[in-house]
Amino acid sequence: MCGIVGYVGNQEAAPIILHGLRQLEYRGYDSAGLAVLDGDGGVQVRREAGKLLNLEQAVSQAPVTGAVGVGHTRWATHGPPSQRNAHPHSSPDGDLVVVQNGIVENFLDLRQELERAGYTFRSDTDTEVIVHLIDQHYHNGSAGDLEDAVRKALLRLKGPSAIVVLSAHHPDRLIAARLGNAGGVTIGFGRGEMFVASDIPAILRHTRQVAFLDNRQMAVVTAHGAVFKDLDGRPLAKECTRIDWNPTAAEKGEFRHFMQKEIFEQGRSLTDTLRSRLDFQRNAVVLDSLNLTPDHARRLTKLTIVACGTSYYAGLVGKYYIERLARLPVEVDYASEFRYRQPLVASDQMVLAITQSGETVDTLAALEEARTGGAFTAAIVNAIGSQAARVTDGHIYMQAGPEIGVASTKAFTASTTDLLLLAIYLGQQRGVLAEAESARIIRALSMLPGLAGELLEDALQNDRYRELAERYHTFYNFLYLGRGIHYPIAREGALKLKEISYIHAEGYPAGEMKHGPIALIDATMPTVVVAPRDHVYDKMISQVEQVKARSGQVLAVAHANDEAIRAKVDAVMPIPVADELLTPILAVMPLQIFAYEMAVRRGADVDQPRNLAKSVTVE
Ligand code: G6P
Repeated sequence: MCGIVGYVGNQEAAPIILHGLRQLEYRGYDSAGLAVLDGDGGVQVRREAGKLLNLEQAVSQAPVTGAVGVGHTRWATHGPPSQRNAHPHSSPDGDLVVVQNGIVENFLDLRQELERAGYTFRSDTDTEVIVHLIDQHYHNGSAGDLEDAVRKALLRLKGPSAIVVLSAHHPDRLIAARLGNAGGVTIGFGRGEMFVASDIPAILRHTRQVAFLDNRQMAVVTAHGAVFKDLDGRPLAKECTRIDWNPTAAEKGEFRHFMQKEIFEQGRSLTDTLRSRLDFQRNAVVLDSLNLTPDHARRLTKLTIVACGTSYYAGLVGKYYIERLARLPVEVDYASEFRYRQPLVASDQMVLAITQSGETVDTLAALEEARTGGAFTAAIVNAIGSQAARVTDGHIYMQAGPEIGVASTKAFTASTTDLLLLAIYLGQQRGVLAEAESARIIRALSMLPGLAGELLEDALQNDRYRELAERYHTFYNFLYLGRGIHYPIAREGALKLKEISYIHAEGYPAGEMKHGPIALIDATMPTVVVAPRDHVYDKMISQVEQVKARSGQVLAVAHANDEAIRAKVDAVMPIPVADELLTPILAVMPLQIFAYEMAVRRGADVDQPRNLAKSVTVE
């Protein structure tokens, strides 16, 4: 969950590291630090508790100079957020530093062992055992070979870990390594300069040529390149990937928050998601990287979707799409539940992970479980080169561009769109989707970016959502209701509000309201209904009546031209009329904007909500 940036080159390292950390702050923001080698063989370390701004101020007050360095932004696991627990952590004589993303599960044993060997600990972190272990090997068994010392130390660790090591005795290099599913390690190639980062946006300004470390791999990075090896010391050949993202895609531009920018760019991101996927001539969907043969698709007996958070709700929408269009039974499971419940998986099943980051630890573990059971594994994933894309039999890239806001928005609409593409694809491969029907849906899909753009433009052009936030920001509880394909949208809407505005909100299937939540309804608990005119519209209207009969206030996501609902409810969040299959993708957008404006009105930190992290790489 933490963010790491490293630099070796010919420029000042500190500004490059600080800029990179800013792009990674979504991964953790409770403390930050950096270390830069000076020209006289010393390591200058600055560490501060709190947001990155505090570190930036510390560095401007006490500048560090040098062209090799490493930085870190932390999401606390072991030890509270404080200056002493901030990374980098140093060896006793300060000539070696380490930053880590991950968890050393056997850190207590290692710590006791190191204390017995004479090491004094200056933090509560698990990371400090890594630096002392490397130091111990460096001075003993490895006889001054840093690479060997890092390798030997890593082999003692249990649990996932991504680290970067810097040593005053080897001033031309950084050593980066990855053990387990600790989150990405990206190596960036520049001209006479090299970069290391947890995620691509941190270095996108400088290079688009990158390579990724897999589990049990390390890289010795100097200004002129990188040497890749496995943890047994065997050299590895690595190919570079070119990242097509525009560098400004990871910048906020004119928007106040990343989340706001990402909401309002969904017209564009959906265009990218659909780009080169729709074949109008053959009325087909192109998903080559899924690597699923028509024969295999026909033999599938079940599809299980595993995911966490917002991606899980996208999976619930996917269940409707795939069961309806491909007539394949779909189960949707939280990855954290699936991995521990000894799931029944077999070779005639497909297990599909949905993950924006491609690094969520529970989702990767669920994939591992599926692979062990012999299932065909696949991922709908946004982060290029991430672990989920690499460990699966096939994948579909969301093509949403970098998502920085901790609360996921454009990745949700991209992954639901990909699930619709997958449903058409499977329906065709399995011979259960009529050609006319697929042609109709493909035509409808091509309208999606335009409809999204229209909805978002309308929202930008008026004060509707700011006024709603003004009216509702003091309420403590919200109920969100949806039915059928819009039930997951109610849950996602509630999650958005909860995550960033800290208002309690519950998403419920509308038909279940009378089995519990109705007891809560009164004038202090507004209900948000997702009620486009679909085949369950009349039933949604009767829920509205039931809420109103109990003095409840109702906010409705409804078709812009639906005058009937407008007369019944307290406020309408309009969406354009569209094919029923597209409506969930559009209906979530007003709920994203509503949650955003509520959080802004309440003065909350939208892009860095308390306790949350974008990429959850620890259990
Ligand atoms: C975290 C993020 C959520 C995200 C979830 C799953 O909780 O805050 O926004 O939906 O992880 O992440 P993934 O990268 O696997 O989609």
